[in-house]
Amino acid sequence: MKVEGQKIASLTCYDYLFAKILERAGVDLILVGDSLGQVVLGYDSTLPVTLDDMIRHASAVRRGAPETFLVVDLPFLSYQVSAEEAVRNAGTILKETGAQAVKLEGGDPRTVETARRIVEAGIPVHGHLGLTPQSVHALGGYRVQGRDEESAKRLLAEAKALEEAGIFSLVLELVPGPLARQVSEALVIPTIGIGAGAGCDGQVLVLPDAVGMNPDFQPRFLKVYAELHRAASEGIEAYVREVRDGDFPGPEHTIGGRQG
Ligand code: KIV
Repeated sequence: MKVEGQKIASLTCYDYLFAKILERAGVDLILVGDSLGQVVLGYDSTLPVTLDDMIRHASAVRRGAPETFLVVDLPFLSYQVSAEEAVRNAGTILKETGAQAVKLEGGDPRTVETARRIVEAGIPVHGHLGLTPQSVHALGGYRVQGRDEESAKRLLAEAKALEEAGIFSLVLELVPGPLARQVSEALVIPTIGIGAGAGCDGQVLVLPDAVGMNPDFQPRFLKVYAELHRAASEGIEAYVREVRDGDFPGPEHTIGGRQG
């Protein structure tokens, strides 16, 4: 798609019913992100997410979207300890979920080597640079990366090293637009941006944010495409009211007819 100048539309997903919607809408790449930790499981970071969490949710997504290219995040501590463990965990994800690829965060030499080893095992790897949420404490918070010249140069070098190691695509999260464009132009593989501007080869958003399920989270880079929080709240309030008032169920919802 990059060669043909077509932008890649990616979204995260964590469950069966939304996966069906994403596949019908023609999303190019579904990512079962470890943002699962925050937007589904209610943790305040991605760090508590386990391999079993990822496998359970990715399997549900696969059942809902059997035809869409599916990438699953390797969660924190599933690839950092050793390349052997990383290959085993990446392989387990593919075996148990039916996904096509895994994603890992970072571009330091050790992570690049781990990516290479996973790729050598025949498992496609999606990279992730910029804001890498599994390193939130080392980064000092969820903030824009690559703002100064030195860190921008480092990010570009890490992107090239990951490409050389064989990754097929690279998420750029929360980096200045001009830097994301420069990285995208320097790589053969596609970049997928989130908070990284229009210079990337594709875009990804966290699904609950994109469909307005998370009204407390309104960063500048986010565009909200549906108002599901409002629609669900209004619907559920109406349901509670009607049950209390005896208006639901009506005769039309009652087996046995109008006398029900
Ligand atoms: O976990 C996730 O949802 C991600 C995306 C933000 C790219 O990594």
